[in-house]
Amino acid sequence: MKIIHTIAELRAWRATAGKVAIVPTMGNLHQGHMALIREARHHTDKIVVTIFVNRLQFGQGEDFDRYPRTLEQDARLIEAIAPDAVVFAPDERELYPHVVQLYKVEPPAIQDELCGAFRPGHFRGVATVVTKLFNIVQPDLACFGKKDYQQLFVIQSMVDELNMPIQIVPVDTGRDEDGLALSSRNGYLTPEERAEAPRIFHHLSRMKAAIEAGERDYEKLAQETIADLTARGWGQIDYVEARNATNLKPATHTDHHLVLLIAARIGKTRLIDNVEINL
Ligand code: PAJ
Repeated sequence: MKIIHTIAELRAWRATAGKVAIVPTMGNLHQGHMALIREARHHTDKIVVTIFVNRLQFGQGEDFDRYPRTLEQDARLIEAIAPDAVVFAPDERELYPHVVQLYKVEPPAIQDELCGAFRPGHFRGVATVVTKLFNIVQPDLACFGKKDYQQLFVIQSMVDELNMPIQIVPVDTGRDEDGLALSSRNGYLTPEERAEAPRIFHHLSRMKAAIEAGERDYEKLAQETIADLTARGWGQIDYVEARNATNLKPATHTDHHLVLLIAARIGKTRLIDNVEINL
């Protein structure tokens, strides 16, 4: 398996590769990422896994500096399931040769909602780096996880509106046995926090069951979740919301496809998760 660090080398590989899938990541790969690579393998064996911790999508005071960087371990994991894959791991100067990135991709108003309301500029940073990676790799398809549901929505709508000829393939959220959504940030959790963290999936499942049983007071369900997490000592709860899963607008009582989304802090770690509901 090849590890490529420069755009020039990646382009040379791409020129003869045929049908290519891209799996953009920030590394520190876990089984959730692996599910994306496995999905990509169903479409082609020419897969580019990009590993780049994108400064542009981190806010002031966020975890850019301490974000885990584990390239060798990541490469071994990829090699085991996709030996023909290429890892594209540019350094910062390769992707951002200028001190300031002047051209940015500006997502519409959704970038200021949900996670965007608490992470100003985050989705601009994501849309910008993903556009750069798409332009460098020129993939036929790209796999993104539903774990980051709003990110998937931003990327899908960006590709639609800007006519990027790339098929976006959504992949279900990979979870630990106790339900906790896999995330590189789970590594920040103390053993006590790790034991408590599945509480968000517990509440998503509880709210989903209530809605499937006919409950339509989404606000009441959210308040119950917030009250319980607060009582159990969680930190700031950024949001607990029901949205239309197709357009991410606030859920109405006539919607048939919903997504429940949570972002909450436990100790110093911010966790996000969501579940879809088909009514
Ligand atoms: P990262 O957090 O490394 O995630 C890379 C991809 O893996 C994303 O598509 C994410 O949704 C998916 N993923 C993460 N955890 C998952 C899980 N438990 N189950 C399924 N998929 C999961 O998301 C990013 O990096 C960055 O924002 C990026 C798109 C690479 C741009 O910098």
